Amino acid sequence: MMRGLFITLEGGEGTGKSTQVRRLAAHLRALGHTVVETREPGGSPGAEAVRHVLLSGAAEPFGPQAEALLFAAARADHVDAVIRPALEAGHIVVCDRFLDSTRVYQGAVGRVPSALLDALEATAAADARPDLTLVLDVPPEIGLARAAERGKGALADRFEKEGATYHGAVRAAFLARAGAEPARCAVVDAVPPADEVAQHIARIVAERLGIAAGAP
Ligand code: TYD
Repeated sequence: MMRGLFITLEGGEGTGKSTQVRRLAAHLRALGHTVVETREPGGSPGAEAVRHVLLSGAAEPFGPQAEALLFAAARADHVDAVIRPALEAGHIVVCDRFLDSTRVYQGAVGRVPSALLDALEATAAADARPDLTLVLDVPPEIGLARAAERGKGALADRFEKEGATYHGAVRAAFLARAGAEPARCAVVDAVPPADEVAQHIARIVAERLGIAAGAP
C-alpha cells in the first residue's frame, strides 16, 4: 500500500530542475510534511554507480537501447531502496527526473521502441508511478546557456554535449508527453526568476494534490 505522494520534475538541460526540487521540498517541509528529495539517474548507492557509467559516456558506444537498460537497472534499485519505502511510509517523494526522461531521451530522441520501454517501466518502476509531474520548460538556447554557465570549467556530460537540434527535440518530446497526459502533468514556464517559478510550482501542487498543512 502506497500512502504517500510521488512528485517528479522533468525537463531539458538548464531548466533549473535541481533548484526547484530543493525549493519544493523545503516548501512542503515548512507545511509539516516529511519529504524525501532524490534524483535520477542515481538516488541510491547502486544507482549512483550506474549513473557514473551513463554520464561519463562509457555506455554510449553500445547505443540508446543499452543505455535504456542501464537507466532501468539504476531505476529498479532506486525505486526498491528509496522511493517505494518512502511512499509506503506515507512520505512525499520529490524526484529530479524519472520515467519521462527515459521516454524522451532514449525513446523519442534515441528511437528505442516503446514496447521495450513499457517492459522496462513495468519491471523497474512497477506501481511506483508519479501522482504529479512538473515539466519545466525553457527554450533550448536559454537552457544550454544556463547549463554552460553552471558547468564552467567542467566537462559537459554525455547528454549536455549534444547540440541545439537535439535539445530542441528533447523539449518538443517533453511537451508532447505533458500534452498526452494532462491529468498527471503540468508544464511550468521556467524562464522567469527561480522565486517566481517556485511560487508557480507551489500553486500547482496545492491545486492538483490538495496539499495543505498537516497530512499529505
Ligand atoms: P544530470 O547531470 O542529472 O543533469 P540534469 O541536471 O540535466 O538533470 O544528467 C542527467 C542526464 O541523463 C540528462 O542529460 C538526461 C539523461 N537521462 C536520460 O537520458 N534518461 C533517463 O532515464 C534519465 C533519468 C536521465
